[in-house]
Parts: sequence; structure tokens; C-alpha cells
Amino acid sequence: MIRQRVCLLGATGAIGRATARALVQRGHEVVCFVRAGAAAVDGAASRLVDVSDPVSVTTDGFQGERFDSVVSCMASRTGAPKDAWAIDHQAHLNVLTAAKAAGVRRFVLLSAICVQRPLLAFQHAKLAFESALIQSGLTYSIVRPTAFFKSLSGQIERVRKGRPFLVFGDGTLTACKPISDDDLAAYLADCLDDESRWNRILPIGGPGPAITPRDQGEALFALLGRPPRFSSAPVALLDVIVGVLSALGRIAPPLAAKAELARIGRYYGTQSMLVLNPTTGRYDADATPETGTQTLFDYYRAVLAGEASAERGDHAVF
Ligand SMILES: NC(=O)c1ccc[n+]([C@@H]2O[C@H](COP(=O)([O-])OP(=O)(O)OC[C@H]3O[C@@H](n4cnc5c(N)ncnc54)[C@H](OP(=O)(O)O)[C@@H]3O)[C@@H](O)[C@H]2O)c1
Repeated sequence: MIRQRVCLLGATGAIGRATARALVQRGHEVVCFVRAGAAAVDGAASRLVDVSDPVSVTTDGFQGERFDSVVSCMASRTGAPKDAWAIDHQAHLNVLTAAKAAGVRRFVLLSAICVQRPLLAFQHAKLAFESALIQSGLTYSIVRPTAFFKSLSGQIERVRKGRPFLVFGDGTLTACKPISDDDLAAYLADCLDDESRWNRILPIGGPGPAITPRDQGEALFALLGRPPRFSSAPVALLDVIVGVLSALGRIAPPLAAKAELARIGRYYGTQSMLVLNPTTGRYDADATPETGTQTLFDYYRAVLAGEASAERGDHAVF
């Protein structure tokens, strides 16, 4: 492995923190561009950069120095349309332009498997940057992971308190192969050296098998030694919420933002985080590549034992 000088974006986020650790462990020199504070990872440097300002990216970020690679785990924290286009698209374009001038040859981008079926603004923003990166002439690895543990952990507390696990329909409408922060971080970091991952779009899940929301609930109750209890909401309820908020949003702009969040909720309630077969239009668990060793149910066990904390993040549906 050749030691590289890496610019890391999003190092203060969940996957970015883990990726900073993975890059440092592999011996790379890591410089994090952050908007506040510092990346809390020993061995990584931090620079305060306003990624929405091309001048700041060049003068505060790259500073006329040579870099080998960019790894980006940066993403809008809300997924709201304006923020997504500003960060997932435009800020990345700013960095891409400055990176080329700084001699960068490789760009590893954390994207999302859900962009395969783009119905939401943030997915279109991500796809627009993916496309710019592919056309940039840099060697790219576009990593599209399935669901993160934090997005599947929002019900641990309510179930522990004796309440039922909430599902849409019968809880088997969707499935995913959850991936841990550290397994994803290792996968991202290894993209820098693994030629088989260059100039490719890489859907990636954690160790299988694929699991449904019902499986998640059953595992939680089993870990707590209680009989499973589910409460079901019809998908039509989500449609009503989206419809009402969209209509009201035309009159009151703050409600338009809430309507988009409701659309995000409906999306994750109805779409699987697995590879989509373009011919059949169906999600395919067997076609979804796997990496790593950490399982969601081991993580649930650790959270229930107080050995890990369930950080939910801003995209949490429940
Ligand atoms: N949740 C899931 O299950 C899932 C599944 C597949 C893919 N994904 C994708 O993974 C990504 C989210 O990863 P994550 O959970 O690690 O994200 P996160 O914890 O929300 O971190 C986002 C990072 O982006 C930075 N950022 C956001 N807005 C910024 C701005 N205006 N200027 C500078 N930096 C900014 C944040 O910096 P601050 O700390 O300063 O805010 C933070 O470092 C998204 O692209 C998402 O679509 C998520």
C-alpha cells in the first residue's frame, strides 16, 4: 500500500469519523476539511473550510499544496432539497474543481444505494454530482451503501420500555443488508488502493442475509427475552400525510420542507435498500454485494447491554 495524502470531507459525521480512523490506521496522511471544530481522530489534521465557497476551498482547504486523493463522506444533514443541492451537489463540485488543481488523481465518494430509484430531491442532487465526478477524468469510486445501523435503531428504546415495534404493512415490504460504520469505513478507505474498485459504481451491504423490519423487531424482542409485539400502520397513511403536507406546503413554505421529509419517510417505508434489477424492476438481495463482519443484531445486543449508543442522525424515520 502506498501512503497517500488524503483530503477527507465530512469527517465530523458518523461514517466520516470512522473513515478518518480507517485512513489513519492504513498509514495515510489525512487532512480533514471541516466547517467547525476539528475531526476528533488522533493522527488526522483539520482545516476550517467553507465548502460552499470555492475561494475558501482553494485558499483555506488545499492551500496550494499537493494532495493525492479526496474521500468524501459529506452530505446534507437534513436531506431537504435546498441543503442537498447546496452540499451533496454544489459543494462537491467546488471541491472537485479545486482538487484537480491540487493534483488530486482519485476521488472516493460516499453516495447511497437509494439513488438507483431516484424519487427525492437529495437523490437527484447526489446523482448530479456522481455524473460530474464520472465525467471529471479523475479515477473515481462511487460507493452506494445500503442502510446504516443508526437508521435501523430508532425503536430500541421504545421496545425496551415495553411498547410494540412499529412496521408498515406486515413489516416485510422492504429489506436491506445493514452495514456498520466501521465496515463501511474500511471499504471506503480500501478504495484508494484496490484497483478493482476504480472507475466503478459500487453498491455495498454488510454481511447478509437481507433482513426486513419484521426481522429487526423479532430480533429485538428475542434479545430482550420477550414475545414479539408489532403495531402496523398502512402505507396509505404515509400517502395521506405526504398529500396533506404537500398541499399545505404550497401555501406555507415551511410545510413544503416537512412534506419532503414525509416523502423521505414514505420512501424508506416502501423501498428496499438492495440492488435493483433494472430488467425486473425488483430488488435483489443475492445481487447485493456484502462486506465486513459486524451485524445489526450484534449491534442491538451491544446497545441493550450499554456497550454502544444508538446515534440516530437526522434521517431517522422512527
Ligand atoms: N442513513 C443511512 O442509512 C444511509 C444509507 C446509505 C447511504 N447514506 C448516505 O450516507 C451519507 C450520510 O452519512 P452520515 O450518516 O455519516 O452523515 P452525517 O453523520 O449526517 O454527517 C454528515 C457530514 O457532512 C458534513 N456537512 C453537512 N453539511 C455541511 C456543510 N454545510 N458544510 C460542511 N460540511 C457539512 C457534516 O458536518 P457537520 O458535523 O459540521 O454538520 C458531517 O461531517 C448521506 O450521503 C446518506 O445519503 C445513508
